[in-house]
Amino acid sequence: MPEIRYLREADLADCMRLKEAAGWNQTPADWRALLAAAPEGCFGVEAVGRVVASATAVAHGGIGWIGMVLTDPAYRGKGLATALLEHSLRYLDDRVETVKLDATAQGEPLYRKLGFVDEAPIERWAGEVTQGKYVGGSYAGMLRHSPFVPVDALAECDGAWAAGRAGSGAWYFGPCYGTSDADVERVARAVLAGRGRAIWDLFPFHPAAAIAARLGFSTSRRLLRMVRGKAVPTTPDVYAIGGFEWG
Ligand SMILES: CC(C)(COP(=O)(O)OP(=O)(O)OC[C@H]1O[C@@H](n2cnc3c(N)ncnc32)[C@H](O)[C@@H]1OP(=O)(O)O)[C@@H](O)C(=O)NCCC(=O)NCCS
Repeated sequence: MPEIRYLREADLADCMRLKEAAGWNQTPADWRALLAAAPEGCFGVEAVGRVVASATAVAHGGIGWIGMVLTDPAYRGKGLATALLEHSLRYLDDRVETVKLDATAQGEPLYRKLGFVDEAPIERWAGEVTQGKYVGGSYAGMLRHSPFVPVDALAECDGAWAAGRAGSGAWYFGPCYGTSDADVERVARAVLAGRGRAIWDLFPFHPAAAIAARLGFSTSRRLLRMVRGKAVPTTPDVYAIGGFEWG
């Protein structure tokens, strides 16, 4: 069994190396936010003095989220991700009845083996918005937002709330909650305008997809949201998730 330990601030360079090997978009600020949200839920395996595999487990709003499941290409196929997942599940099972994650095709067989089942397809859309206006108002549903998810920009009106943050390759749009498609489009434009290439993770059978398409976005990756334990469907007010590592 590999020895599993907590990830700490001093591991950030190794963590960034792991996510770069997978071509992901997180920044050091994203890793720091995970460490702050779950100081005892971010796990790593070390070899030759550096972290070669990671997994994060954050409990929020009664749901546990697994993310950042990464193994250095040179250390794959040795059971490291399986061991980290089992460890993360022991941590979350003490805290919540439902654990979710967004699985890549590479990760899916591992999760299935550990009891996860399909919940819904989830897609990453990419695009660019050049123009957007300031919006005003106040959306009560934003209180659902986890205070740990990094926010570099936000927009709000009476029927929607949206945030965004810098990424290593593209601006990240999300989370976004709303009750009105027109208001979601307004806050999306406000958060996205002038940010260059941006990404937006959404559920394809949700009105969010039509809004993203209207803004010129298109699908760039397909993943699978999986769940283990008590089923808790995603509520229809979620127009953009907060990131595959946050749900
Ligand atoms: C997915 C990933 C984390 C697996 O890491 P790992 O440490 O190699 O995983 P494990 O050794 O514990 O193997 C878990 C399962 O992955 C699959 N797998 C692992 N290595 C494999 C290989 N070389 N070829 C085919 N399948 C492989 C198998 O299904 C394996 O199950 P098994 O042990 O019953 O055969 C790793 O491939 C990775 O970092 N991929 C890029 C990032 C990513 O997609 N992460 C998942 C995010 S949801």
